[in-house]
Amino acid sequence: MTMTPGFRSPRKSAPNPSKDEPMPCCHICNTPFEAFLSFGQTPISNHFLLPQDVADEYFFELAVGFCPACSMVQLTEQPDRERMFHENYAYFSSISVRMAQHFEAFAASVRQRWLDRPDPLVVELGSNDGIMLRHFAKDGLRHLGVEPSANVAEAGRRQGVDTVCAFFDADLAEKIKAEKGQADAILAANVMCHIPYQDSVIAGFDRLLAPRGVVIFEDPYLGDIVERTSFDQIYDEHVFYFSLSSVSAMFARHGMEVVDAEPQDVHGGEMRYTIARKDARPVHPRVAELARREAALGLAEPATFARFAGNVARSGMELVAALADLKRQGKRVVGYGATSKSATVTNYCGIGPDLVEFISDTTPTKQGRLSPGTHIPVRPYTEFSAGPPDVALLFAWNHGAEIMAKEQAFRQGGGKWLVYVPKVEIL
Ligand code: SAH
Ligand code: TMP
Ligand code: ZN
Repeated sequence: MTMTPGFRSPRKSAPNPSKDEPMPCCHICNTPFEAFLSFGQTPISNHFLLPQDVADEYFFELAVGFCPACSMVQLTEQPDRERMFHENYAYFSSISVRMAQHFEAFAASVRQRWLDRPDPLVVELGSNDGIMLRHFAKDGLRHLGVEPSANVAEAGRRQGVDTVCAFFDADLAEKIKAEKGQADAILAANVMCHIPYQDSVIAGFDRLLAPRGVVIFEDPYLGDIVERTSFDQIYDEHVFYFSLSSVSAMFARHGMEVVDAEPQDVHGGEMRYTIARKDARPVHPRVAELARREAALGLAEPATFARFAGNVARSGMELVAALADLKRQGKRVVGYGATSKSATVTNYCGIGPDLVEFISDTTPTKQGRLSPGTHIPVRPYTEFSAGPPDVALLFAWNHGAEIMAKEQAFRQGGGKWLVYVPKVEIL
C-alpha cells in the first residue's frame, strides 16, 4: 500500500495496518481486500469548525482499496453516517449555477425518456435543497425527496418539494410504496456513492420500482479519477468509486442490469447509470462501448491502482513544493472554494494557514469557520474580491469553467491560478 507522505501535517500518522488487525471486507460482496492508498488521519470533510470545536475534532484513517472479487473501489473505513449528514449539513446544491442548469436538464431528460405511465411517481435520494425535484414539483408531478440532512431538506420544502427527512433503505422504500405506490423513476445524484449499505438500498429499489421502472444515478467516475489523478474525490462521504464493472456487479446481485451509461461533465467527470430489471428495457450500445473503454483503462486490475497511488503521491508533493515556493517569494495565496474535496488535499499535504491565508467561499454556513483538520479560515467572497491575492489555489476545480468565466478581472489584474488536477500548474 502507498502511504501518505504526511508532509507538514501535525498528524503524520498514516498507520501501517497492524498484522493483527482484520482486513476490511467489501461492502458489496464481503470479500476481504487490502488498501492501495492511505491519506492518513483525516477529519469529516464538511465539518467546518468554530474555534472552540477544534479540540474535539474527529479523525479517521482515510484509505481506499479494490475488491478483487467484484472490482469495487471503496474506503476501508467510513465515519458513522450521523457524523456526516445532519441538521447542519454544509453542502447546499443550488450554490452553483452550473449545477442548477445541469439538474434542470437532468429532470427534463427523465421526463422525456422514462416517464411512460400515466400519473408517474419520481423518488429522489439525497434531494438536498430541491435542486432537481423542484422541476417536477412546479408542474404538479408526483414526487418525493428523501433527504436525511434536516437543514437542506427544509430548504427543499421551501422550493415546493415534498421531502421526507430520512435515510433511504429497504424499510423506508416499503413505507413509500405503501403510501404512494410504485415508482417510475428513482433518481440519485452524488449520493449512491455515499451509502455503504447498498444491499438494503437496492433491495429497497426492487420493492419500490414499477416493473419497467428505472433507477438513474450519477456519481464521480472511477475512470476520470484514475485518468486525471483527481485524488481529492476521495473523502469520507464517498465510500464507493464506481465503474461500470462494479456497478453492474452490484445490481446483478438483485436481478438488475445497467441499460445506459452516459458520461457527465460535472464535478470533475461523472457517469450517469440507468438501471432496470433484467430484460425489462433495451440496453443502449453505449454500455458495451464503456465496458471496452474500462478494459483498456484496466479499471478491474490491481496494477492500475498501484500506479494511481504513485501518481497521487507525486501530485501531492508537487503541490506542496509549489506552495512552499510561492511562500518563499512572499506571494499571497488564498484558496478558492471550501469544497468537501479540499479536506483531503489540505490534510494529506499538510496545507494550513501558513501556506494559504484563507479560503474564499460563497456558502454562508461555512464562512467565519475553520477548514476541517488544518484550520484555514473560511471567509466570504467579498474578502477575495476586495483584496485579490497574488495566487488563488483552485480547490473548487470541479466548478472551474464557471469560476474562470466570472473571475476574468482577477486574471486581468495580474492574479494567477494554482491548480492541481489533472496536474499541478500555475495558470
Ligand atoms: N443530489 C444533490 C446532493 C448531493 S450531497 C446534488 O447532487 O447536488 C448528498 C446528499 O445525500 C446530502 O444532502 C445527504 O444528506 C444525502 N444523503 C446521505 N445519505 C443518504 C441516504 N441514505 N438516503 C438519502 N439521502 C442521503
Ligand atoms: P463542492 O465541490 O463540494 O461542490 O463545493 C463547492 C464549494 O465551492 C461550495 O462551498 C461553494 C464554493 N464555491 C464558491 O465559493 N464560489 C463559486 O463560484 C462556486 C461555483 C463554488
Ligand atoms: Zn466485492
